[in-house]
Amino acid sequence: MQALSLHDAIFTTRAMRHLKSDPVPREDLEYLVEAATMAPSAGNLQMWEFIIVTSPKRRQKLASLHREIGYQYIHEEILADPNTEADRRRVYTKAMHNVEHLDEAPAIIVICLTMSCPDDAGVASGMFGSVYPAAQNLLLAARSRGLGGVIITLGTDYAPIAPVDNPPISEILNIPDHIKTVAMIPVGYPKGNWGKPWRRPWQDCTHWEHWAD
Ligand SMILES: Cc1cc2nc3c(=O)[nH]c(=O)nc-3n(C[C@H](O)[C@H](O)[C@H](O)COP(=O)(O)O)c2cc1C
Repeated sequence: MQALSLHDAIFTTRAMRHLKSDPVPREDLEYLVEAATMAPSAGNLQMWEFIIVTSPKRRQKLASLHREIGYQYIHEEILADPNTEADRRRVYTKAMHNVEHLDEAPAIIVICLTMSCPDDAGVASGMFGSVYPAAQNLLLAARSRGLGGVIITLGTDYAPIAPVDNPPISEILNIPDHIKTVAMIPVGYPKGNWGKPWRRPWQDCTHWEHWAD
């Protein structure tokens, strides 16, 4: 495979939701986590842990949990609301694919915070802000190995709703109380194509020197 330039990786790595079920070599999954741990974190505290889930039984349990939350939150609330704007509706319609097919991904990498996040936004921003650079590193490293994935928070500990019919993720994965899950990333070989993701033009969200004259 021809090496991908850093520019192309950054500019064409979008959420890859449709994944083949072919297994991913263990060494590739380990490489993704190693790349994730190269990310910066507040105070270099590296307050992350990663759980690589490949067992079909556990993947099915995670998928069932995500299905419950996804149906309730995305299907029943966001998509059922006639006031949901078209752009948001488009994104969440795509997200429903993962709600229905999460277990088809051959691996799901769960990212955890090693401490509970307080309500204090000042502290919380540093904590959450310390795991998402790792998540993006993981996605870019995946891309370099011909793999894709998407960050999913629904079904993890800080999701807006908790499960009723399914055990929480902490129970499915035997996670101790003080460790909190913040994202799960299904990883696999893409079915879809890579391409430049739709973003607002950078000029529309950039200010030089100060906000306005
Ligand atoms: C913090 C964060 C939370 C996200 N949570 C979810 C989620 O719960 N479910 C989901 O399907 N996608 C989730 N996503 C994926 C986004 O919907 C996706 O990255 C965004 O729509 C951009 O997609 P694109 O790169 O294909 O344009 C999340 C992304 C981020 C960064």
